[in-house]
Amino acid sequence: MSSAKTSPTLVLNEKIQSLWNEGKDVLHLGFGESRFPTHPLLKNALAKGASNRSYLPSTGTEKLKNIIAKYYSKKLSRTLSANQILVGVGSKSLLYSMIQSLEGNILLPKPSWVSYTSMAALCGKSVIQFNLERDHEYSLDLDTIHLAYHAAKKNGQNPKILILNSPNNPIGNSYSSNDLNMVTDWAKENNLVILSDEIYSLITHNENTHTSPSSTYPEKTIVFGGLSKHLSLGGWRVGIAIVPDNAFGQGLVNNFNLIAGSIWSCVPAPIQIVAETAFSANPEIESYIHTCTKIHQIRTHYVYDHLKALGVSCPKPTGAFYIYISFKNYDRVLAMMGIDSCEDLANHLLETYEIATLPGVAFGDDPDELCLRISTSYLDMETDEKAELILKSFNSGINPTVMMNDHHPKTNLFLNRMDEFLSSLN
Ligand SMILES: Cc1ncc(COP(=O)(O)O)c(C=O)c1O
Repeated sequence: MSSAKTSPTLVLNEKIQSLWNEGKDVLHLGFGESRFPTHPLLKNALAKGASNRSYLPSTGTEKLKNIIAKYYSKKLSRTLSANQILVGVGSKSLLYSMIQSLEGNILLPKPSWVSYTSMAALCGKSVIQFNLERDHEYSLDLDTIHLAYHAAKKNGQNPKILILNSPNNPIGNSYSSNDLNMVTDWAKENNLVILSDEIYSLITHNENTHTSPSSTYPEKTIVFGGLSKHLSLGGWRVGIAIVPDNAFGQGLVNNFNLIAGSIWSCVPAPIQIVAETAFSANPEIESYIHTCTKIHQIRTHYVYDHLKALGVSCPKPTGAFYIYISFKNYDRVLAMMGIDSCEDLANHLLETYEIATLPGVAFGDDPDELCLRISTSYLDMETDEKAELILKSFNSGINPTVMMNDHHPKTNLFLNRMDEFLSSLN
């Protein structure tokens, strides 16, 4: 356990809360939480579900699994059945259980989401990192993966699991279908299991561009999703996994049953009732997901366009609400200011400009790449009232630029402070 780290996101949240308590006007761009209000139909479902107080099956009720199978059959253009579905306490519980029950070590993109490495450490597995292509918008490159795989095998490391995450946290873009298909074919040739974290798939900015490795390699790909991101329900803890429709998949179901049954029993009964509604493809809810995605896109692209105009280097966001910015071009001038790593940089922005970000090292990146992840999800959506206001203005058909100018004071304050910071470097 000593090599597993507490989530840097949660640590940063606590630090910022104490700065806010001291009266500091910190702009929180480190918080990767979608902030739209709970949809009224889901609130009703929770109230209706409140009288359900019995333990339920550890993999989810049959009814819920059937609903989820139908929902994702449509989203992924596959034919899924209930016996392929697992319902967990957030997708984290499912990712952890799958990593624990699978054989071998893990091939992991660099950078990638904070928790994969801690989960691997908790399960006693080693992680073999391979670089995403920094100079090509952090794309997947088969040669890079292939080299990392063979080097690991030569060292006796037994890589058997490949984690992919598209749309991606921290980069905020999706792998191209061409790159993804090549890597998937390669994984198949080498008999690897793919853990495909698709938690952001329903907030892909251009809905039709999501590709899942499960469509060409269904026999050994496990897909992860949930309600945390597209319905802003992180705290309600609903995650789903789709396992292969074969003996390997059923083995995973048995292992999950054992882990969940021994540790948390089941996702709370009222929340399973909520999930039935959330995955029912109700047109009102689907339209809400669409609206929230559009707003994430407008807000994220607005920040991206402004940062680019200021001379910041970052890949174009195409999903979720993250931007991965690099200050490598400024390394000399930053070094003269005593800033040699992304952590120094994040501290400088926090202390001097009251801007909170997460440094690239939190995602396994090299400190001297001077990268930071910013999340556009929190500013100007700090409360339900503010989020409602933005929803209302969007639904009134407002021009997106006007919406950004008139209803996003904190986002604009952030951009002004970044302008000040960049001016200090030039
Ligand atoms: C890439 C990625 N996967 C999984 C999760 C966890 O989501 P859940 O709330 O379903 O556990 C997150 C949450 O931040 C994430 O960014």
